[in-house]
Amino acid sequence: MIYLLDTANLEQIKRAFNLYPMEGVTTNPTIISKQKGSFINILKEIRSIIGENKMLHAQAISTTCEEIVKEAEYLNGILGENFYIKVPVIPEGIKAMKALKKKGIKITATAVFTAQQALIAANAGADFVAPYVNRIDNISGNGVDVVGQIVELFANGNVNTKILAASFKNAQQVNEVALLGAESVTVNAEIMDKLIDHPLTTWSVDQFVKDFESVYGEGAVAYNAK
Ligand code: G3P
Repeated sequence: MIYLLDTANLEQIKRAFNLYPMEGVTTNPTIISKQKGSFINILKEIRSIIGENKMLHAQAISTTCEEIVKEAEYLNGILGENFYIKVPVIPEGIKAMKALKKKGIKITATAVFTAQQALIAANAGADFVAPYVNRIDNISGNGVDVVGQIVELFANGNVNTKILAASFKNAQQVNEVALLGAESVTVNAEIMDKLIDHPLTTWSVDQFVKDFESVYGEGAVAYNAK
């Protein structure tokens, strides 16, 4: 399973891409609205930070097929080879996915809350489907179960569309969708840090340094320890 970062915050993107094996960035209109600057400039800056080879997913704002396609063509022309247009799984969005597929524009079906929405989007040509795990949990559903159903439906039908699970509140939700076979997740910067964080790891590293320095002196490391 691969990891993407769900933010448009440039500092967070720089930090996460520097530290972790990130494969891309996802945004949505809400995420973009939290940043200062023009919409297209924010996306261009993200592209320049992550490079041409990483995935960049950005959402169409329109709600009619014709307008969604126009937005997608505009963004796709500017944001390079690994650009994915996020299209909500509303009826006009599904229609737009069919049209975008014919045009060779990569598609991420978004705002997915049920397995059937995911399957219909996949049949319409989506490359990724993005189930919103925590938003499902928040309405007393089970987001991880929905991801499990999508995994099953895609496997049963030999569907090539991949799952990009989104909307996480904690590291455990991420691990559960990973175990079910989701190919990718998009998480915010805080959850990305939490996925690698463990108090016993931190404690163990501190202890290793302390024990080593007690014999070889303060600041001793492999290349200068005598
Ligand atoms: O990118 C869409 C998804 O990540 C939404 O997440 O945390 O706003 O539910 P959230």
